[in-house]
Amino acid sequence: MNDKRPRIAVIGSTNVDFCSYVARLPQAGETIGNGVFMQANGGKGANQAVAAARLGGDVSFVTAIGTDSIGDALLKHFENEGIDCSAVSRIADVSTGIALIVIDKKGENIITVNPGANAMLTCECIAAVKELIAGVDAVVMQAEIPYSSVKCAAQLAHDAGVAVIYNPAPVCEVDDEMMALTDVMILNQTEAAILSGSEDTAEAAQRLLNRGVKNVVITLGSKGAYFSCANGTSATIPSFQVKAIDTVGAGDTFCGAFAVAYSRRKAVDLDSLRFASAAAAISVTRNGAQPSIPSIDETLSFITHHNELSEKK
Ligand code: ATP
Ligand code: RIB
Repeated sequence: MNDKRPRIAVIGSTNVDFCSYVARLPQAGETIGNGVFMQANGGKGANQAVAAARLGGDVSFVTAIGTDSIGDALLKHFENEGIDCSAVSRIADVSTGIALIVIDKKGENIITVNPGANAMLTCECIAAVKELIAGVDAVVMQAEIPYSSVKCAAQLAHDAGVAVIYNPAPVCEVDDEMMALTDVMILNQTEAAILSGSEDTAEAAQRLLNRGVKNVVITLGSKGAYFSCANGTSATIPSFQVKAIDTVGAGDTFCGAFAVAYSRRKAVDLDSLRFASAAAAISVTRNGAQPSIPSIDETLSFITHHNELSEKK
């Protein structure tokens, strides 16, 4: 890999995650006792920004947080991660985003999100950072901020020749204009099925390519990831074998890591996906979204260790 840190703008949400670890997920109307509580920094945008920074990117984060003490603490946290926060908007009289998460013994989760300030990240906020967008190698976005803002940012990036990496999660409608502005779409199997109308992974990817996306990566949880490119290349890469205890933020760690590797290599290839899969596999072995994201050194050692193990087999 080339040694220069790629410049990445992550444009998206910030949340604080209130997590409850329980034996099993409750059914409607049911109360489950004996939970263990943990508060952790989260939000798909923030998770991807932190992942990209820990995994070797030079990251600017475009997000909106409250003017409350939670917002103050988050700003300090992002700065401690080495993230450029010059484009963080502080919004008065609204709370910072909050996610309520329940995680069971198998690591499965259910999440509800209360967007708060994230809903105020408007096209005007995006237009104000036009120069920042034009100066990076890739823009990375998700769907916890207004869709109109995602499209504004994608158009500005596209016009400036900057790669657009889009993770439409939580899943939302994506129109053909946005599809055509997307260089790499990363989404999980459920999201791919909903967006494409096909449950078959290869068919779902092909339908998204037909709508104008240049490269599609579908993550398959413990089964790995599938990619398909407009140039005709496609493959499935297996996941690393680990014991998963909490998958919250696995997809975000994958996206952040992938953004760094893709910006360096300018290609969706096996190496960039293996790097992203390794970082995501480490993240599922620990609790919390941002607390679980590994550093680049840990990720590279993990890959070396797994290469040695498979050579011995
Ligand atoms: P989440 O919403 O839980 O953050 P997601 O649904 O967006 O994740 P997944 O497809 O579940 O995304 O996982 C993303 C990637 O994380 C996978 O492609 C894989 O590389 C890695 N991963 C997830 N679960 C496991 C696991 N149990 N073992 C190893 N790797 C995993
Ligand atoms: O992808 C995981 C994230 O989804 C959590 O951190 C939570 O904040 C929700 O946005």
